[in-house]
Amino acid sequence: MFGDLLENIFMTPASEDSESIRQLFGYFLWTAAVVMAVVTGLVVYYSIKYKAKPGQGEPEQRHTHKGLEVSILAGVTVVMGLFFYLTIDTMLSVQAAPAPGQQPDLVITGHQWWWEGSYPKSGVVVANEIHIPTGKRLLLELRSGDVIHDWWVPELGRKMDAIPGKPNQLWMEARRPGTYLGACSEFCGAQHAWMRIQVIAQSPQDFAAWEKAQLKTPAAIYQTELIKNGEVLFQQKTCANCHTIAATEAQANIGPNLSHLASRKTLLTGILKNNPENLAKWLDNPQAVKPGAHMPNFRFNKKELASLVAYLNSLK
Ligand code: CUA
Repeated sequence: MFGDLLENIFMTPASEDSESIRQLFGYFLWTAAVVMAVVTGLVVYYSIKYKAKPGQGEPEQRHTHKGLEVSILAGVTVVMGLFFYLTIDTMLSVQAAPAPGQQPDLVITGHQWWWEGSYPKSGVVVANEIHIPTGKRLLLELRSGDVIHDWWVPELGRKMDAIPGKPNQLWMEARRPGTYLGACSEFCGAQHAWMRIQVIAQSPQDFAAWEKAQLKTPAAIYQTELIKNGEVLFQQKTCANCHTIAATEAQANIGPNLSHLASRKTLLTGILKNNPENLAKWLDNPQAVKPGAHMPNFRFNKKELASLVAYLNSLK
């Protein structure tokens, strides 16, 4: 627990931006720590030194010490000025303006309560598990589909609001491959705490392979009758009114894109591991798993549930 806390405060930056943010935070933290230690020390020292003694009467009054006052004020002004400069300097480097007309590499849209990631250059669309190539400073565009959310993956860069009707831009980079965790950091309703982010950074080759796999048509893999029934049910039970599955009639954009659902590691921004049992649990009673989520309970019977799970699980 304590170890986790330290890890979170002193996280290992995986980009130049988060490195400079951490450095700035460190300057503030250590300066504040020194000031607090000095002030506390002086209070304790003088409390003991000038403690009233029995029969002492009214203590002698001391008057201002001009030299000391001026030097304290001057010292504070210099420190504040220095911090102002360091803050502006960091802001300018982490939020550098993109080249005129530069297109985003990744468009992130916050929804209650999940993240949509779309890659305009390739056309890939994913949910919650966002893959990126390492070693490239990516330009992100932040949007919202409903209320204000806030994208924050501390190891990869700064945070940025996703505001309805006003796209924001943000740089993100990962130096090393790995899975980087983040969370929505603007209260956005019942499941705000479960609006987690996973950024999966891969070497450029691995990323290219992943992107290629995502572009493959997921349909037409109806190896079994069960899967085929599931596909029919998906259209009949109006799942198709909210979700997209590439190369089928399901082309709606209200809920997460399910084209390659089975290739994801988790469900529901990380609440559950992605496996057939958990998928069945979710479809059987969504409100029990993620209360408030905009996924209705369709009251599927056991057979329907099994078909749908088999179908969705085939979407690799
Ligand atoms: Cu989205 Cu908080």
